[in-house]
Amino acid sequence: MPETVDLMLLGAGQLITCRSGEKGPRRGRNLADPGLVTGGALAVSAGRIVAAGTEEEVKTAVKGSEVTSTINADGRVVMPGWVDPHTHAVFAGYRADEYEARIRGDSYLEIDKRGGGIKRSVREVRETGEDRLFEKSRRRILKMLEQGVTTIEIKSGYGLDIESEMKQLRVIARLGAETPLDVVATFMGAHHKPSGGSDDDKYVDILIDEMMPAVAEAGLAKYIDVFCEKGVFDVEETRRILEAGKGHGFGLKVHSDEIHALGGTELAVEMGAVSVEHLTKVTATGIAALAGSRTMAVLLPATSFGLASRHYAPAREMIDSDVAVALSTDFNPGSAPSHSMPLAVSIACSQMGMVPAEAIVAATFNAACAVGMEDEVGSLEAGKKADFVIYDVEDYREIPSRAGENHAAVVFKEGSVVWELQGYRERSEVGL
Ligand code: NIG
Ligand code: FE
Repeated sequence: MPETVDLMLLGAGQLITCRSGEKGPRRGRNLADPGLVTGGALAVSAGRIVAAGTEEEVKTAVKGSEVTSTINADGRVVMPGWVDPHTHAVFAGYRADEYEARIRGDSYLEIDKRGGGIKRSVREVRETGEDRLFEKSRRRILKMLEQGVTTIEIKSGYGLDIESEMKQLRVIARLGAETPLDVVATFMGAHHKPSGGSDDDKYVDILIDEMMPAVAEAGLAKYIDVFCEKGVFDVEETRRILEAGKGHGFGLKVHSDEIHALGGTELAVEMGAVSVEHLTKVTATGIAALAGSRTMAVLLPATSFGLASRHYAPAREMIDSDVAVALSTDFNPGSAPSHSMPLAVSIACSQMGMVPAEAIVAATFNAACAVGMEDEVGSLEAGKKADFVIYDVEDYREIPSRAGENHAAVVFKEGSVVWELQGYRERSEVGL
């Protein structure tokens, strides 16, 4: 045990550890175990958890260490910070008019065809200076932090040429360096083809021969991602891009089966991708390929919601088939403009049939697995970063069920308070 415990948290009515005895993501029935400790405590030293469990267990574990500060959760719920493993958070402006157009009946692909959608965000990002893009994005992700998000993946993909993709990736790197959040960068030059007509035929070559080597050399991304979809990148193009990415040592991710099932999921599993994302239209073959594989299924319920669709990914079937499921917001200016992980978790429960514990583990520990961070974040256990949140609720199921308000009271990143709702104790119903 360390000589000093910098922070001792006591009095968690429910400590939701999300820990698992096994290696790798949670699947099947194990997904529904939130690792709940009644009357829980945490001890933190140098930003890391040194003990987590009942008050008695934690006090015994750190016996002899000097405790320099203590906080009492007074019966509230304490959980790991959310890990949001799929966002497009670096963009210029929202596309709220497209939200209305979709409600009126236009499809996502129709809006795309008339120059809206991703192409519109590309035009805007190209026109926006790097510092402004950074500042807008910084303010956005700090709002996510207020809701308890402590780790986030961010994709480029609104640049679609070397300069603008590199600009987005530099902004992503700065967000990691200049905010408290852990930021994982994904190069998504394969988000769309630039709308240059004949130039589009050469785009995959440009992506592979020019853009990818530049990103690799600059060390600006851990993963690459491809939007495998009708009218965007087909399966053969996706394969070429993934193979090239693998050659550069990037981890692989694929947006697959969102609007049409082309076979991107099966391809991604075959190539050892860390994750496939969306899966609203996943087929029985896709589920069979994912079942028991190492590739995570990242489901995005807030996207169906934002698209005003009634069609959600078949989460229940996937979980029952032993697919490793994670949840994310897909936060972006068009299809999923809500950055709220609690909202995504809530929609996963009410619209996809996930019980609250499954959704919470999928949005913390399994989400960490989807960005290769499972040894660092996503659960409350000794050795991991002390990223946790005190929620002003008595039962963790209030987080999805009482949707539409932020229940976070205090957010900790590596043992330090990074956000606190002023006066939460005076406003609180807990323990009254
Ligand atoms: O994950 N599906 C492709 N890409 C994004 C949409 C981004 C946008 O609409 O700007 C997504 O939903
Ligand atoms: Fe996406």
